Amino acid sequence: MKIIKVKDYQEMSIAGAKIIKEEILKKPNLTICFATGSTPIGMYQALTKMYQHKELDFSKVTSFNLDEYVGLGQSNPCSYHYFMYKNLFNHININKNNVHLPNGIGDIAKNASDYEKLIASKGGIDFMILGLGTNGHIAFNEPGSKIDESTREIKLTQSTIDANKIYFDNENDIPKTAISMGVGSIMKAKKIILLANGIKKADAIHNMIEGPVTSNCPASFLQKHHDVTVIIDTEAASKLKNS
Ligand code: PGA
Repeated sequence: MKIIKVKDYQEMSIAGAKIIKEEILKKPNLTICFATGSTPIGMYQALTKMYQHKELDFSKVTSFNLDEYVGLGQSNPCSYHYFMYKNLFNHININKNNVHLPNGIGDIAKNASDYEKLIASKGGIDFMILGLGTNGHIAFNEPGSKIDESTREIKLTQSTIDANKIYFDNENDIPKTAISMGVGSIMKAKKIILLANGIKKADAIHNMIEGPVTSNCPASFLQKHHDVTVIIDTEAASKLKNS
């Protein structure tokens, strides 16, 4: 893994956006997989600025997303579909026909297999953005997930529900499951960047980079991927011993 250490959230966001810019400049029809959560919001704002300054053109980009809550429709403000439009897609010139998110409504097993087929039909993911859960999850692959799993319905752990309840008016409204790309789907991406900031991510960063490769920390499977860049701020890097 390549590790880029930066000072703070702002520097992390700019560093991530610059890498994405380089990738789109190299390949204007890049297939990119986006992440949700508080981590990438600053990076999406930086990408929006680059677009406004005419440094970036998203018109040929195809997008996928890692995950979606089961039971939340696209117009639900807590859905990841809604998040992506609010934080990025409404502000850039991506072709809405090229935007794809997992569907958390209806027959989830069928939606999951259709999603994998759709990704394959576009030639796979060129570039993927990941955040990191405090429990070591990537997308919604909670501890216990295996390295070879594909998109599926996953039961959220209490720690994930606790971390995400700030986005919901009422804890009881938080879906108990999500449809998420699996670690196997993630490992197929040609290039990955993972962003993490803040002291609460320090243990997960240490386990991911310096711990054993284990289902207990699904992010540690990324040690087996050939092209991962980790962008972390000082606090998130504070428990690394040798990196
Ligand atoms: P966060 O979530 O960006 O809101 O910290 C990251 C994750 O759970 O993957």
